[in-house]
Amino acid sequence: MLVSAKDMLQKAKAGKYAVGQFNINNLEWTKAVLLTAQENQSPVILGVSEGAGKYMTGFKTVAAMVIAMLEELNITVPVALHLDHGGYEGAKKAIDAGFSSVMFDGSHYDIEENVEKTKEIISIAHARGISVEAEVGSIGGEEDGVVGAGEVADPDECKRIADLGVDMLAAGIGNIHGKYPANWAGLNFQVLAKIQEKTGTMPLVLHGGTGIPEDMIKTAISLGVSKINVNTECQLSFADATRKYIEAGKDLEGKGFDPRKLLKPGTDAIMATVKEKMELFGSVNQA
Ligand code: G3H
Ligand code: ZN
Repeated sequence: MLVSAKDMLQKAKAGKYAVGQFNINNLEWTKAVLLTAQENQSPVILGVSEGAGKYMTGFKTVAAMVIAMLEELNITVPVALHLDHGGYEGAKKAIDAGFSSVMFDGSHYDIEENVEKTKEIISIAHARGISVEAEVGSIGGEEDGVVGAGEVADPDECKRIADLGVDMLAAGIGNIHGKYPANWAGLNFQVLAKIQEKTGTMPLVLHGGTGIPEDMIKTAISLGVSKINVNTECQLSFADATRKYIEAGKDLEGKGFDPRKLLKPGTDAIMATVKEKMELFGSVNQA
């Protein structure tokens, strides 16, 4: 059964670890993340961007696939199905389709409009036991067409949005979607510490989890980050393993072209990346 992300993240915040959100794109991705979570007894959040939802033919298809997989793979660890960087209409559609958690990314509205729209999404979601993530400031870079300026969050605005009753709060602290440039200034821990001071027990979310050095991840967790989003790193692992398989000519040997064989190295590579992140985030054996 899908669960809201609320309880697992409150537990993570209290226990000083983080739950990984791994974005999914297809059946192989979903299976890889779920099996890794089960093997490592880790709670997990499956992230679905609006673009990935469309790619998988729609939120209803995604929800039906995930719910059936939980049953047929005997997944017993807590799993949330979460809309990533949802717009106002997208969040409502994901709620109707059976998602157990949504992000309403109102960071491109001015603060007043962000507040109004966030309140509305919270009331619709909470009436159905669905958790809500909001964003203050913005995440730099681009993910599935969502472009952010990389504006660092104002801790007072974070408090204002947290007080609306969101279940988790994403704050821009210098994090960027995709690969980090060589001259990246790093995460702004001074701002993160202020946000945590103002928002108390609110689980904080770190987007752009790909390629953040281990010591920064650990410091972020110590300052209240309890959900870390990883997308690009699984894509890079998948692409690298698939390229190696094809470059070695394995698709031309026997039935190596069978998609069940062709996609296996990439799927295994996603599993290895997810396991590595769960270990780093401290969520192993926390189910
Ligand atoms: O919302 C998803 C993430 O923030 C993923 O970022 O692609 O840099 O890992 P990433
Ligand atoms: Zn993100």
